[in-house]
Amino acid sequence: MEKSFAADPLLFDYVAETFVPEDATLKDIRARMQAAHLPAIQVGALDGLHLEVLARACGVRKAVEVGTLGGYSGVCLLRGMAADGVLHTFELDPKHAEVARETFRRAGFGDRAVVHVGPAREQLAGIEPHGPFDLVFIDADKTGYPGYLTWAEQHLRVGGVVLGDNAFLWGSIVKPLPPPEDAEKVPAMRAFNERLARGGRFRATMLPTGEGLAMGVKVR
Ligand SMILES: C[S@@+](CC[C@H](N)C(=O)[O-])C[C@H]1O[C@@H](n2cnc3c(N)ncnc32)[C@H](O)[C@@H]1O
Repeated sequence: MEKSFAADPLLFDYVAETFVPEDATLKDIRARMQAAHLPAIQVGALDGLHLEVLARACGVRKAVEVGTLGGYSGVCLLRGMAADGVLHTFELDPKHAEVARETFRRAGFGDRAVVHVGPAREQLAGIEPHGPFDLVFIDADKTGYPGYLTWAEQHLRVGGVVLGDNAFLWGSIVKPLPPPEDAEKVPAMRAFNERLARGGRFRATMLPTGEGLAMGVKVR
């Protein structure tokens, strides 16, 4: 599944051809995920490149990811991190975690990616002694976003970055009548975006990717 970020497909093609966001390793991860019957809900190729470049720009050494899936976005983050950087990534589904571990091993990050299995909100406590962290990327259960933001507020360093993917909830965030399956997600994502934007702990913006990549830098 290709994910567009611009209304004009010509612009999308131009950027894809110019910046070439997906190489053979990332293509192979997608193919292995498909072969293992994982859902194709990883970040889009260009969003993966955003993650790498943001991690690089922020000098990230200690990163946390909520929602591993097959390890696609994790590899993108690790590519942008310092050579001794470590990614702690959290995944509910043991099958997804198994695919991700193989992904990290094949990509040469086997010793720098720690895959934690179970509900992230409970598992996160286990890495708190390794903090504070430089970056937290949230890309899992949408009703959990406010709780993950609370954790990020507490465990990012000042100057650290929080990223929340799918912050537009595929448009439901502004629909007067969102589909029933999004009924609980809409208030949760609104609470996440509003606290990130105006809660006083972050200076934040919404990167206008196709799905909305909310980004905040911790200021206090
Ligand atoms: C959108 S996918 C993550 C995609 C991944 N970040 C990527 O782009 O390659 C969301 C993942 O979060 C996992 N997940 C859902 N609820 C979770 C929870 N409470 N704790 C940890 N992981 C969860 C799902 O099993 C799924 O693999």
